Amino acid sequence: MEERNQTQSNEQGHRSRVIAIDGPSGAGKSSVSRTVGEKLGFLHVDSGALYRIMTWQCLRHGIDTSDEKAVAAFAGTVEVTCRPEGADLAFYVDGIRPGDELRTPEVNAHASPVATVKAVRDRVTAWLRKMPEHGDLIVEGRDITTAVFPDTPARFYLTASAEARAARRHKEEVEKGIAGGSAEEVKASLLARDQIDSTRKYAPLKKADGVIEIDSTFLTL
Ligand code: DC
Repeated sequence: MEERNQTQSNEQGHRSRVIAIDGPSGAGKSSVSRTVGEKLGFLHVDSGALYRIMTWQCLRHGIDTSDEKAVAAFAGTVEVTCRPEGADLAFYVDGIRPGDELRTPEVNAHASPVATVKAVRDRVTAWLRKMPEHGDLIVEGRDITTAVFPDTPARFYLTASAEARAARRHKEEVEKGIAGGSAEEVKASLLARDQIDSTRKYAPLKKADGVIEIDSTFLTL
């Protein structure tokens, strides 16, 4: 039988638990995951950051992100390590913990196409399935409830209207000083990514049967 790692033994020999949250960009997954994780003592895992790391590395190494074969071959060379830091499971590439370089308009534009490549998804999924060895986790993404940890009992689909999601993303980018365009441009880029993420061949974003759906359009954190 295939081993699912949502209750994998960690270093202390305990069975780790996994809370899985999927949903489109800007639905509030990161804020909710961080807050809930802090309250429960579950480490926050931002799986989107792993796809962004793959994308950032492709761009840094001059890989054409529309060339699926080149991206697939390159994916096998990317090494990511992780360790708990505060409330997060932090990711390191070549000894550096990347931050805002993963959130540029360029990475935003290339991340969805890179995330369609099966070799990229397989590598990121393998990294994610090993992470419960660090402890209890709250993992957010697009395929966590459907593909990465489909058997975990705590599965959520967090969504919100496109307008609310775009407004939140734009506000976040302005606050961080990394705004790449107007609110309308942010919305267009977010909808373009949603379209790719939910129609791709491998592990598309979808609401799985049996998940708890929360629409955060009119909800505060
Ligand atoms: O959540 P985010 O915007 O940081 O995600 C970046 C990209 O990675 C986005 O195009 C969706 C994709 N992604 C994915 O395909 N599967 C995941 N589990 C998480 C993110």
